[in-house]
Amino acid sequence: MDKNMMLPKRSRLDVKGTFANGPLQARPLVALLDGRDCSIEMPILKDVATVAFCDAQSTSEIHEKVLNEAVGALMWHTIILTKEDLEKFKALRIIVRIGSGTDNIDVKAAGELGIAVCNVPGYGVEEVADTTMCLILNLYRRTYWLANMVREGKKFTGPEQVREAAHGCARIRGDTLGLVGLGRIGSAVALRAKAFGFNVIFYDPYLPDGIDKSLGLTRVYTLQDLLFQSDCVSLHCTLNEHNHHLINEFTIKQMRPGAFLVNTARGGLVDDETLALALKQGRIRAAALDVHENEPYNVFQVSARSLN
Ligand SMILES: NC(=O)c1ccc[n+]([C@@H]2O[C@H](COP(=O)([O-])OP(=O)(O)OC[C@H]3O[C@@H](n4cnc5c(N)ncnc54)[C@H](O)[C@@H]3O)[C@@H](O)[C@H]2O)c1
Repeated sequence: MDKNMMLPKRSRLDVKGTFANGPLQARPLVALLDGRDCSIEMPILKDVATVAFCDAQSTSEIHEKVLNEAVGALMWHTIILTKEDLEKFKALRIIVRIGSGTDNIDVKAAGELGIAVCNVPGYGVEEVADTTMCLILNLYRRTYWLANMVREGKKFTGPEQVREAAHGCARIRGDTLGLVGLGRIGSAVALRAKAFGFNVIFYDPYLPDGIDKSLGLTRVYTLQDLLFQSDCVSLHCTLNEHNHHLINEFTIKQMRPGAFLVNTARGGLVDDETLALALKQGRIRAAALDVHENEPYNVFQVSARSLN
């Protein structure tokens, strides 16, 4: 690390003029807090900043020099920055979330501390929408399980065996896909799902009227209505202080018996334990989860807890 980069400690909330926190050092320290990949940012940063790779799971693993001197922080979604964590940084001016959600940062506290928080709103829109469709198609057409049967040596010697193996495959055309959240990814999923013949409905209380008409979708005005009408529910809302465990014991009971659930948004939207129980009881026919509240996900831990 550059030894000539001691920065004056900024006085928090002392916001004056353009350089609220004092003049920028010639070569400021920027830290990648979690993960190891900033291959897109590195070519831009390498000539103007010293970049520290922390690979940390929590701020307790971050070197004191970074806590004292970093003016910029890049972060993925695996580290959480609470108010207490943010207060450990003495020179931080900006946090950049490499991704769209800022749910792992206390944005309000950051603002109070004079730290700007930026994200990448268009991150992975098409890819996550494509993945969502893969998961939905797989739940309906069971391609993953069928491919596994073939790999495990199952022989299909006649139509009966094929029918038996394909038991549980469902027809898509005419089924209702309910999207919770119709932002960038939700809209991209809606457009794709329509092409497959889904009747697409959505619930998003924050959108202005008329979006349903421009996209040719059906809008519902309560989550309950969406859950009641949908054969498959797919989550695409941001995780915020109002919707933690949006899918819980109460709301699962509002879903159609035997409905599918897909979550490519945020793990905290679903109560894993309740979902595991609903799957075991057959109330939910199958679920496809790209995200979990606690990652890395331990499937055995959740199913063991829900057995008790
Ligand atoms: N799996 C991944 O790798 C991955 C990648 C990118 C984004 N994401 C997640 O996907 C989700 C959607 O991302 P986006 O880029 O479309 O975000 P976005 O901000 O464009 O859209 C989110 C939508 O959710 C709506 N919303 C918020 N709370 C709601 C609620 N309680 N009920 C219904 N709607 C609600 C908002 O009004 C908004 O229209 C986010 O949770 C994001 O973190 C996941």
